[in-house]
Amino acid sequence: MANLNCKIGDVKLNNPFIVTAGEHGRDGEEILKVAKTGVGAITTKTIVPHPAPDPRPCCVPMDNGFLNCVLAAIMPSEQWFKEEIPLAKKAGLPIIANLASADPNEAAELAVKAVEAGADMIELATYCPHLAENLEAQFPGLKIPPPEMDNPKPFYNTVKAVREVVNVPIIGKVSACHFSNILPWIEAGVKAGLDAVEVTDTIGPVMLIDIETGQPKLGGPRGYGGLSGGALKPIAMRMVFEIAQNYDIPIIASGGIQSAEDAIEYAMAGATYFGVCTVGHLEGQNRYTSLIKDLEDYLENRGITLDEIRGLTLRKVEERKEKGWDCNLEPIPPLVHEDICIGCGKCKDACIYDAITIENGKAVIHKDVCYGCGCCVWTCPTKAIENMYYKDI
Ligand SMILES: Cc1cc2nc3c(=O)[nH]c(=O)nc-3n(C[C@H](O)[C@H](O)[C@H](O)COP(=O)(O)O)c2cc1C
Repeated sequence: MANLNCKIGDVKLNNPFIVTAGEHGRDGEEILKVAKTGVGAITTKTIVPHPAPDPRPCCVPMDNGFLNCVLAAIMPSEQWFKEEIPLAKKAGLPIIANLASADPNEAAELAVKAVEAGADMIELATYCPHLAENLEAQFPGLKIPPPEMDNPKPFYNTVKAVREVVNVPIIGKVSACHFSNILPWIEAGVKAGLDAVEVTDTIGPVMLIDIETGQPKLGGPRGYGGLSGGALKPIAMRMVFEIAQNYDIPIIASGGIQSAEDAIEYAMAGATYFGVCTVGHLEGQNRYTSLIKDLEDYLENRGITLDEIRGLTLRKVEERKEKGWDCNLEPIPPLVHEDICIGCGKCKDACIYDAITIENGKAVIHKDVCYGCGCCVWTCPTKAIENMYYKDI
């Protein structure tokens, strides 16, 4: 059986699957239940100095994604420290206390109390896209200043203040809203003493509308929320990759992990640990157990380890550059494996260059008109069409 044991700092994890902050970390009781799934570690919902209830409705599943407008943990922080974290610790696996405060000293105070209560690691969030307007609606007169998306200094100050008072590993959780300027945030976090980064929180604000009523689907003033799940994956993937390209810091990938293959993809981009949240909300916590098993089987069947594949794509991209393949302008038509092709015609429909016909129940690619776009390769339901780019690489 593939060995998935790993560590964050000195904290040992049985496997790299980490339940990230969400409803499966809402209290000690829930954490005890989720721990039975066998995950490597569990994160609490964000513990804040001034909790507030969630606007309802607060969850909307969509095709390959999920919208939520839940705020932070609803319980007072003192209850977390006196009851919930000590209870959660009975699960016998590492507990990550996710904390947030706009005031670095207050964050440091929360961190000290969380560690005293038994938390094995501290996680500090950067930005929640739907927080401000929902809090302002609940507390008339409250005015939360707009976030400074280009200024990681407050994040630096918070990490630094927490670093000065706790010895356990500190994880910085970056928002997907920093997708266009992630590196300065990582630079700030690393300088302030982060041990790992979690990439990413949700992206937003986003919204969906119920066309029966014309109402925003989420509660709150305008129905704004954060997007997670499969739709977030390519955004988080590029961020993981870019961080791994530039920093030697362990990365927890978080964004649309729903299968062992998703975890493998993130490992190739440079991630060491795999955050799971939406998949457990949609499919139930037992999905965490099967994800671990699926990853073990995947590695076992191929005789590979996570260490071997970690950062593979970083190496491939280097190769592209070295060999001058980083701006290929020539089409290379894909190859149809007739023994696998079922002649369904999905590739033909997806070919915007009219380069595919179905003849005698098989796809035929007309090389003279094929643009080499690749659509048919990824559309084929039976994987009968092979990408011929990089074949000789
Ligand atoms: C219902 C829900 C509640 C969440 N609550 C928190 C939270 O309290 N603190 C936090 O840092 N992230 C929170 N998140 C973000 C997740 O931890 C995770 O980083 C994000 O959803 C992306 O991963 P996923 O696509 O696997 O869900 C929440 C996500 C969801 C769906």
